[in-house]
Amino acid sequence: MTTRTHSDSAHGSHHDTDHTNGGPDHLRHRPRRLRRTAAMRALVRETRLSPDNFIYPLFVRTGEGLRREVGSMPGVFQLSVDEAVREAAAAKSDGVPGVLLFGLPDEKDLVGSGAYDPEAPVQAAARAIKQEVPGLLVVTDVCLCEYTSHGHCGILVDDEIANDVTVDQLVRAALSHAAAGADVVAPSDMMDGRVGRIRSALDDAGFQQTAIMSYAAKYCSAFYGPFREAADSAPAFGDRRSHQMDPANVDEAIREVALDIEEGADIVMVKPALAYLDVIARVKAEFNYPTAAYHVSGEYAMLKAAARNGWIDEPRAMLETLTSIRRAGADIIITYYAREAARALA
Ligand code: PBG
Repeated sequence: MTTRTHSDSAHGSHHDTDHTNGGPDHLRHRPRRLRRTAAMRALVRETRLSPDNFIYPLFVRTGEGLRREVGSMPGVFQLSVDEAVREAAAAKSDGVPGVLLFGLPDEKDLVGSGAYDPEAPVQAAARAIKQEVPGLLVVTDVCLCEYTSHGHCGILVDDEIANDVTVDQLVRAALSHAAAGADVVAPSDMMDGRVGRIRSALDDAGFQQTAIMSYAAKYCSAFYGPFREAADSAPAFGDRRSHQMDPANVDEAIREVALDIEEGADIVMVKPALAYLDVIARVKAEFNYPTAAYHVSGEYAMLKAAARNGWIDEPRAMLETLTSIRRAGADIIITYYAREAARALA
């Protein structure tokens, strides 16, 4: 800044020879040269945003012809299986390569057994989408919180989530998703050892080609609020601090990611995205592994709310946000904006 002021011809004289910058009319470095035109900016752009990197989450429930908008997430709907297939097909034609399925079961119980019901919405939607939208990747969320009557991510013993019996349930869920045709299963529960157990069980059952995207560094975040309305998965009491990570930690994220890679994860995820860009950057730098970031419900809701009030330019804020997640190092972005962003980039 001082160099520029010093060298500006309005402030310097022609006899002023500054050898660092070549004098007032010979400023050697003018970074603005590369920003002058759209073509020039495109030439030197470091981060490219492409729909190829997007995954689009869908909330599936029973019924037919049903599209129920989520109050805190404008543009996001709970969908019956037939509507989920239509939405998946629309996403594919927008250029989005994959969907991530969440389920809303009709009935919940203490152990989340709906998570591995072969006729449940996620399994039915996975089968239907694989059949009717060929080429689209189907990823399924593996967790119990949508399926337990108490809304916790596992089986409770004395009001605490018991790790190993919960993993047994997660393994059943992952197997049923693979059997329904899921290309990728994505455990989001943050129980210890689940990636390894799921990998072994998938292999033993002949699903060697089913990939695992682990929610490896998933933080205990306030930004999941709208999702819990969408997925009807808020805990009836307490919170998720006993298994999701403390937002203050990053070395711990590295240990979590290392464990999941060792256990056989194909893709590791950091979640949420925007408040954890430093975590994404460190994970990518340390492991150089396929890395996903989840641009979560609360991040989406904030942009939508501000846009609805006319306080921000939504298309620009959307693309700037997604670009920042890519720039931080994410290869894959899971976002409710996937279709809108893909259309904006077309
Ligand atoms: C758990 C799960 C959650 C999200 C994805 N998987 C919620 C939670 O941990 O409470 C949040 C996604 C979002 O906020 O968009 N099944």
